[in-house]
Amino acid sequence: MAAKPTTRARSAPTPDRAGEAKKRRKSAENRRGQPDSRSRGRTVRTYANAVWSGRFAEPVSERVKRYTASVGFDRRLAAHDIHGSLAHARMLRATGILSAADLDAIERGFAAIVREIGSGRFAWSLDAEDVHMNIEQRLTALIGDAGKRLHTARSRNDQVATDVRLWLRDEIDTIAGLLARLQAVLIDSAERHAATIMPGFTHLQVAQPVTFGHHLLAYFEMFERDYQRLAGCRTRVNVLPLGAAALAGTTFPIDRARVARELGFDSVARNSLDAVSDRDFAIEFCAFAALFMVHLSRLCEELILWMNPRLGFVSLSDRFCTGSSIMPQKKNPDVPELARGKSGRVLGHLIGMLVLMKSQPLAYNKDNQEDKEPLFDTVDTLKDTMAIFTELVPDITANPDAMRRAAAEGHATATDLADYLVKKGVPFRDAHEAVAQAVRFAEMKRRDLSELTTAELRRFSGRIGPDVHRVLALEGSVAARRHIGGTAPAQVRAAIRQARRMIRGRS
Ligand code: ARG
Repeated sequence: MAAKPTTRARSAPTPDRAGEAKKRRKSAENRRGQPDSRSRGRTVRTYANAVWSGRFAEPVSERVKRYTASVGFDRRLAAHDIHGSLAHARMLRATGILSAADLDAIERGFAAIVREIGSGRFAWSLDAEDVHMNIEQRLTALIGDAGKRLHTARSRNDQVATDVRLWLRDEIDTIAGLLARLQAVLIDSAERHAATIMPGFTHLQVAQPVTFGHHLLAYFEMFERDYQRLAGCRTRVNVLPLGAAALAGTTFPIDRARVARELGFDSVARNSLDAVSDRDFAIEFCAFAALFMVHLSRLCEELILWMNPRLGFVSLSDRFCTGSSIMPQKKNPDVPELARGKSGRVLGHLIGMLVLMKSQPLAYNKDNQEDKEPLFDTVDTLKDTMAIFTELVPDITANPDAMRRAAAEGHATATDLADYLVKKGVPFRDAHEAVAQAVRFAEMKRRDLSELTTAELRRFSGRIGPDVHRVLALEGSVAARRHIGGTAPAQVRAAIRQARRMIRGRS
């Protein structure tokens, strides 16, 4: 499809401001059947509410029109709306509902509209309410009666559900590629730091030494689950609602399987009421997005913490940081902070969507128009965030000395000493107690457990020999954890090879 959804849709919530102002001035004339004067010196013969105003005695008020219109944001769906309409029209022709000449005209008309939208010449009108009616009215203006026949056996209710699914499917494919690239740079960084030792924390207190590569791969795992969730979501997005019409189906002999095939849908929605009122697919996507942002916010929080000079574990280059307007010395981790903040907004969209659907009676309700802005914003926020972190992760410069110093200060190998005693026959609980006493002693001497001499350590257990210093050393500690999922450099390298195999061919 040549037509691209216009990216201005988000930044210009009211299309055609100039035209709007002019129209407000002329609101007295704004009656049904009156030509609607457009901006850019062109006059398009659109009529206020022309497609449904037949049973109304007066036009809607300007305020109601502005309140109910969605064209300011849903015009972003234009390319997918046209794509869906073309498949619908071809099906109508194939089933004999539409003539060959009409289909011909419709295809020609859409080609012209695609060009108009692509070049920014398309005159979006608030009077036509939403993307669907804007396009249909323009089609009719261009080709006459054939344009009016397009909506046979269809409703905006199944049309909008189809558009959003088509659009979201494309976005999901883009996002899956971005996520895979983010995973790839994490793997690369993990490889550089497969043997870099840092303190692992629990309760934000030094717990046991780990490798930085292992730590980074933890995020790879979170993102891998996100990827799988996204793939699962895609299968439920990729179901065709079209054919459900308003809610009950249609009296025409439509061929839904044909439309599904042409649009690349895996299946056809089985229940017409559900098809027009279901937004689970959008909620599921928002849930995926929320969880991804939760994962990313944890990485952000750690980066911010690690960049604090007290820890100084990592630094980012200047292009990812900003300064302070008052404190000349400042270098702030703005990008991780902002992403942490944006996670709140993506989580909010998920809740917004859930509440939107909660208690909604079947079938379609206008409430559903409110699904678009949170969904659009979720997609935009996610894409921006994934792209920037794919640049930021390779830029993380580790400070292995600072990491090592911190790991060496917290008695991080105390568990290794307890394990050592257990291997010499001491029951684990007794070993735990003996090491706890040794830690108290080390604290008293203001030294790390690993700095005590063999003689000093033997006060707490006679089983301790000179071989103890191998297990108390940071390298010995991490290297010993060499089972699947462990932090040993050799195991991290194996995990890296496996991770690379998992994401192969994804981006
Ligand atoms: N703009 C509407 C939406 O986004 C399209 C469907 C309108 N249907 C209706 N019966 N008013 O949901």
